[in-house]
Amino acid sequence: MTQGPSGPSPFRLDGQVAFVTGATGGLGAAIVIALARAGADIALADLPTRQVASEALVADVVALGRRAVAVPIDVTSVASIHQAVADAEDRLGPLGVAVANAGVNIRKPGLELAEAEWDQVIDVNLKGVFFTCQAVGRRMVPRGLGSIIALASQHGVVATPRSPAYSAAKAGVVNLVRSLAVDWAPRGVRVNAVGPTFIETDLTREYLGDPAVRADIVGRIPLGRLGTPDEVAHAVTYLASPAASLVTGTCLMADGGWTAV
Ligand SMILES: NC(=O)c1ccc[n+]([C@@H]2O[C@H](COP(=O)([O-])OP(=O)(O)OC[C@H]3O[C@@H](n4cnc5c(N)ncnc54)[C@H](O)[C@@H]3O)[C@@H](O)[C@H]2O)c1
Repeated sequence: MTQGPSGPSPFRLDGQVAFVTGATGGLGAAIVIALARAGADIALADLPTRQVASEALVADVVALGRRAVAVPIDVTSVASIHQAVADAEDRLGPLGVAVANAGVNIRKPGLELAEAEWDQVIDVNLKGVFFTCQAVGRRMVPRGLGSIIALASQHGVVATPRSPAYSAAKAGVVNLVRSLAVDWAPRGVRVNAVGPTFIETDLTREYLGDPAVRADIVGRIPLGRLGTPDEVAHAVTYLASPAASLVTGTCLMADGGWTAV
């Protein structure tokens, strides 16, 4: 069946409610704005320490004519995730879209990474993503509708030095979304990941500040430049939208071609 020129664009998210973790970060804020521009109302979930930034971003979304609320969350606590998801639905209505975006990295060689550092990176980037998916999935699956997107990384499919826990967590996310996708596809819920290359945010700014590192990285990206937060946000928005209705269990690489080489 093909769609004629009339009717709403399948790239729109009008009337949908989206839940975004790590909402005030470099990529999170771009994702929030892109989803709002596509028509969604947004629950911005971030650490309590990000409250001021969350409130400023809520105002930006409201200025776009959408509803927005800030809900505190720490994705390393399953209870906190459930509370934030419940808050979001109480205040905005049923979630149709969720973006598990919160992430951290501790850049250290494999010979030096300490147990607590390993645990922190895995707790936020893998355990936090799973329990975010589970909390929203428990609401979406019975309703038979929803799109969940997790932030993986090109480093979930190719190596990066000095980030063993991060690389392991991101590889875990790539296969986690496959597992949840096949579980939930018969119930109408899609689960995908996005795999960005290097984008300049708080996560990467110090690392990319070394001119030799930066030149080496840019030299490995076939498009010849770093990505932008908006380019990642557009990939997330596509996967969130009905335009991606046949897409589940995939990791959409937004990597300038890095992993194609
Ligand atoms: N920037 C890049 O180059 C890049 C590349 C590939 C993938 N990613 C991934 O994209 C996602 C966003 O990264 P970013 O570049 O915007 O980083 P960022 O540091 O700018 O933002 C991270 C966000 O996560 C939040 N966060 C951290 N710990 C949390 C916790 N325990 N509970 C809730 N929120 C928490 C922070 O408050 C912040 O808002 C991450 O998953 C990251 O791994 C980033």
